[in-house]
Amino acid sequence: MSREREYTHPVFAQVYRLIAAAGERGGFGRLRGSVLADASGRLLILGLGPGHDLAHLPPAVTLVVAVEPDPSMRALARGRITACPVPVTLLSADAHLLPLSDSSVDAVLCACVLCSVAQPATALAELRRVLVPGGRLLLLEHVAAPTGHWVGRLQHVLQPLWGRAAGGCSVQRDTASAVAAAGFDVTAVRTTMVWPNLPPVAPTVLGTAVRR
Ligand SMILES: C[S@@+](CC[C@H](N)C(=O)[O-])C[C@H]1O[C@@H](n2cnc3c(N)ncnc32)[C@H](O)[C@@H]1O
Repeated sequence: MSREREYTHPVFAQVYRLIAAAGERGGFGRLRGSVLADASGRLLILGLGPGHDLAHLPPAVTLVVAVEPDPSMRALARGRITACPVPVTLLSADAHLLPLSDSSVDAVLCACVLCSVAQPATALAELRRVLVPGGRLLLLEHVAAPTGHWVGRLQHVLQPLWGRAAGGCSVQRDTASAVAAAGFDVTAVRTTMVWPNLPPVAPTVLGTAVRR
């Protein structure tokens, strides 16, 4: 399969467009804003999707580089890119091999994307490479429930179907551990239940990890 085809999920993009718009009104927009409050300078948004994060940038962000491999998602983001108050460069690129120089961004946002990349450890190594030392990795990611918890059992049962329907999304990732293993300080990152994320896309990891 070509790289472009591997990342093209037009049906999921349309379904996600509706879910993301409803989430925005239902409390997810507020979460995006609270996580993004820690961003400043040059911000990389990984997996831009329909682009809702662009409406929550704090004034300290001076420019945005957005990576989005799915052409259907890039089309959905166009209007929000035009309305964004800071310059946005949208790249058709892949988290596993970012076309960016070492230490070229001050912050990275991962919102509901580390669940979807095929190899999170490779993607996180790339994010670490492009961040300046001390740079911030902002996280808003749904993750696996603790072992033995009923939500974990639900995630286990739903995962095969979920992955196919939701563009390869996994509800079973231990993202905080993966971020720590990739060379980030995760002391300001917490894993919790937050509205409106409900099982199987809960609990949620949110906060700021710092590039060691
Ligand atoms: C569930 S959507 C989330 C979109 C957006 N971050 C948001 O919060 O609304 C997951 C996004 O990750 C993107 N994605 C999947 N694999 C990727 C990869 N290897 N590199 C970059 N983005 C990827 C998808 O194309 C999709 O836009």
